[in-house]
Amino acid sequence: MFHADASAAIVQDGEVVYAIAEERLNRIKHYAGFPALAVKTCLDAVGAKITDVDHVAMGQDSEANLARKVRFALSNPAQILKFIRLRQRKEALRDLRSLLAQALEIDASKTRFQEHHLEHHIAHIASAYYCSPWEKAAGFSYDGSGDFVSTMMARCEGNDVEILERVYLPHSLGSFYTMICEFIGYKKYGDEGKVMGLAPYGKDTYREQVSKAVDLRNNNGGFELNLDYFMPLGSNQGMKIQPDGSVSMARHFSDRMKELFGEPRVPHSEITQRDMDLSYAMQHRFEEVFFHSLKRLHERVPVPELAMAGGCALNSVANGKLFSETPFQQTWIQPAAGDEGLAIGAALHTYHSVLGQPRRYEMKNSYLGPEFPDSRIEADLKKANLSYRKLEREPLLEAVAEQVAAGNVVGWFQGRMEWGPRALGNRSIVAHPGRPDMKDILNARIKHREWFRPFAPSILVERQNEYFEYDHPSPFMLHVYKIRPEKREQLCAVNHVDNTGRLQTVSREENPLYYDLIRAFERKTGIPVILNTSFNENEPIVCAPEEAIDCFKRTRMDVLAIGSYFVLKTEN
Ligand SMILES: [Fe+2]
Repeated sequence: MFHADASAAIVQDGEVVYAIAEERLNRIKHYAGFPALAVKTCLDAVGAKITDVDHVAMGQDSEANLARKVRFALSNPAQILKFIRLRQRKEALRDLRSLLAQALEIDASKTRFQEHHLEHHIAHIASAYYCSPWEKAAGFSYDGSGDFVSTMMARCEGNDVEILERVYLPHSLGSFYTMICEFIGYKKYGDEGKVMGLAPYGKDTYREQVSKAVDLRNNNGGFELNLDYFMPLGSNQGMKIQPDGSVSMARHFSDRMKELFGEPRVPHSEITQRDMDLSYAMQHRFEEVFFHSLKRLHERVPVPELAMAGGCALNSVANGKLFSETPFQQTWIQPAAGDEGLAIGAALHTYHSVLGQPRRYEMKNSYLGPEFPDSRIEADLKKANLSYRKLEREPLLEAVAEQVAAGNVVGWFQGRMEWGPRALGNRSIVAHPGRPDMKDILNARIKHREWFRPFAPSILVERQNEYFEYDHPSPFMLHVYKIRPEKREQLCAVNHVDNTGRLQTVSREENPLYYDLIRAFERKTGIPVILNTSFNENEPIVCAPEEAIDCFKRTRMDVLAIGSYFVLKTEN
C-alpha cells in the first residue's frame, strides 16, 4: 500500500485463494494508494470479514535497514529534513488497523488480527519460493528499490528464507535500466518493459561507455553503480506518488549522460539509431551484471533451482538466457514479479516462517482474480445493446478458432482474471500468429503500441521443443527464446526482429479452455500456437465484463467471446 502496484491477496489455510492489484478495480494504472477495493474483493470472494482475519502482513518495513538509511542521511546533510519527513509519513502508514477499519467501515477495536511487516525483498523472494514446488532453492530478488535495498540473495530451505546478501541504495540494477529508459524518452513508471523490445534493433556502438555505468564486483551482490551517470540519490531519484494515486518518475540520469550521448530524446519524438543503440547497450550490460550476480549466488547456494521475483525479474529476455549463461537449470518466477506480488510473499512468509505452518501449496496457475457468471455477462451485453449468440463449450471453441484462422481479432474473456501483469488466456486478445500483417492490424485497430514491441505466442506445452530452442516451460510468459529457423515463417506475427518470442507455454492442467482453443486452432491451421496480447487499450487489463464490452465497442475488434457468448462486430 502507498507504493506502486498496491494490491491484496488472501491466504486461507496455507493456500493463496485470491489475489488482485488495485489498478484492475479502480482503473488507475500502477495505483499507489491504499488498496481498499482489492481488500474488499478478496474478503468478499472467500465470504470473510476483516474480523475473521487472523494475520495481516505487509511487504514493507520502514524499520528494515534503518541504520543504512540513517548513515546515508547523515552523510548527505541536505537530505536530513527530507528523511525525517519521509519517516513521519511512513509511521502514519504503519497504522494498518485504522486504515483497514476505515476502508471497510468498521470499528477498529473489533478486529483481532496480528500485524506483520516484512522487508520488501524478503517478500519478493517469498512470493516465488513459497509458490514453487521446491524444498530448497536459491532466492534472488532485484528491482529499482525497496526498503533501501535493490537486490537480495537468499538460501531458501524448508520453511525459511535466509538472507545472504543485500545490495543497498544507491546501487541498483533497476535504477540503471530506468535511467537509460528515461534518457531515451521512456519516462513513465513501467516503461522499462517496452524498451526491452527496442534493444534488438540497436547496434553495438555504446556498449563500452554504457557498461561503465555499472561495475562488476566480486563481493556482496556483485555490482556497484558508477554514480557519475546518476542524479544523486535523494535529490530527485525514484518515484513520486501523485494525489490521485498514480505514479510518476523523477529524473535519474545526470548531465554526464548528456556529455557522452547528447541531448535526451523527447518523448513521442522519432526514435533515432542512437536511442536504439543505447537500449541495446543497456540490455546487454543488464544481462552481464545479472548473470554475474547469479553465478555468485550459485556459489553460495549450489542447487539447480532458482526462485526469483522483483520488477527486474520481468526481464524475460535475460531470463531466457540464464540457462546457458549461469549454472541454474530451473526457474520459478513469480508471475506478479513487480510490487503487486509483495502481498502474496508477505502473507506466505508469515504463514510458513513466522507461524511455522507446513508447506503444501504450489501456485500452478495465475488465475487468482475475479470471475463472472454468464447471468451477469448476459445482462451486461443487453445493457450495451449488443446482439449475441449463446454457445456450448465446443461450438464456442470452434467458432472462435474459425475466426482466428480467418485472420480476425478476437477478445477472449473467460474464467478468473490473471494475477500479475501478463494476460495468460483469460483476459486476452487472440489472433493468428502466422499472418505477416497481424502486428500492424492489431496496432492500428486496437493496441496502438510502439512499432518495435513484439506480440507474444501461446503454445501447447508439449509442442514447445518443435518451435523453440529451449524446452524449459514458461507458463507465466517470463522467458524469451529463439524460434527455430524452420518455424519462423509460421510464427511471423510473433517472431521478433532477433527471431525470438516471449512465449507462454499452455498445459491442459493449467487452463483447459485456453488449451482446447489452441488445439481447435491447430486443427484448422496446423499451428499449435496462438497470438496472445492483453485485453485492453492503453488502460489496465480489463477485469469485469463491462470493461471488456466497452473495449470491444470502442476498438475495431472483430469478435468478442465472453463467457458462453459469441458477439460479432459485423452484427452490431
Ligand atoms: Fe520491488
